[in-house]
Amino acid sequence: MSIANITIKSGEIFKINYLRTFVSSLRKGEEWIISYDMIKAENITKRFGSLQVLKGIDLEVGEGEIVSIVGPSGAGKTTLLLIMGTLEKADSGRVTIDGQELNLLSEKKLSDFRNKNIGFVFQFHQLLPEFTALENVMIPALIGNVKHTRAEAKARELLQMMGLSDRATHKPNELSGGEKQRVAVARALINDPRVVFADEPSGSLDTNNKEELHRLFFELRDKLNQTFVIVTHDEHLASLTDRTIHMRDGIIDD
Ligand SMILES: Nc1ncnc2c1ncn2[C@@H]1O[C@H](COP(=O)(O)OP(=O)(O)OP(=O)(O)O)[C@@H](O)[C@H]1O
Ligand SMILES: [Mg+2]
Repeated sequence: MSIANITIKSGEIFKINYLRTFVSSLRKGEEWIISYDMIKAENITKRFGSLQVLKGIDLEVGEGEIVSIVGPSGAGKTTLLLIMGTLEKADSGRVTIDGQELNLLSEKKLSDFRNKNIGFVFQFHQLLPEFTALENVMIPALIGNVKHTRAEAKARELLQMMGLSDRATHKPNELSGGEKQRVAVARALINDPRVVFADEPSGSLDTNNKEELHRLFFELRDKLNQTFVIVTHDEHLASLTDRTIHMRDGIIDD
């Protein structure tokens, strides 16, 4: 694909009228999609006691982009993900998602924003132990005031997609690690979030389930133009993503 002597490849970043623009898809022959920043993190710092965990992170992720974050244990990957996902506060810097600067929102508005726009898949599943798989998936929809019947139908659809229809009534302690992980993914997706933050989403899956899950992320991006930020130690998954960000010792190491 070439515009006025510029050759553009998928994943490349360029500017049109000073707006940073991202080519999120060039897979279908000459058809191409460009998009704008969905996530913008500026000069994020975070300290826990005497430990400076994030030392000024700048990161932009385009709409519909799938980005992986890799790096050694303790590099600050989870902390950065939690800050971008509004679950943890930075000491300084700002995060903007879909044009909304998160620092400017009240706690109430921030939790509504999170519920509607952001899905999480945690490193450890964090399902609620007293609820069934189906209920766990439904909870974010119910919090978002979706009607019970609609939430249940959507949750069942997602569980089916994850190959878990026959586990809907199981509680987390009656599920395998991989099954729990897939329930967590279904829960992250139920409100059709614009952005999904995933922390080691396939860590506890076997090869088949892992590949299924990875395929699902790309399918969702293609269908719904969802944006994914995935922390992973899985080199294969990282190699499939549009861009890999390397973190080391609280900085981005490019
Ligand atoms: N709530 C906390 N209180 C104190 N220290 C913390 C807290 N959360 C994280 N840390 C420390 O901050 C550093 C970065 O942690 P973080 O969880 O972001 O690393 P990570 O890159 O996700 O590592 P891993 O690959 O092992 O998951 C670590 O040294 C960790 O011990
Ligand atoms: Mg981590």
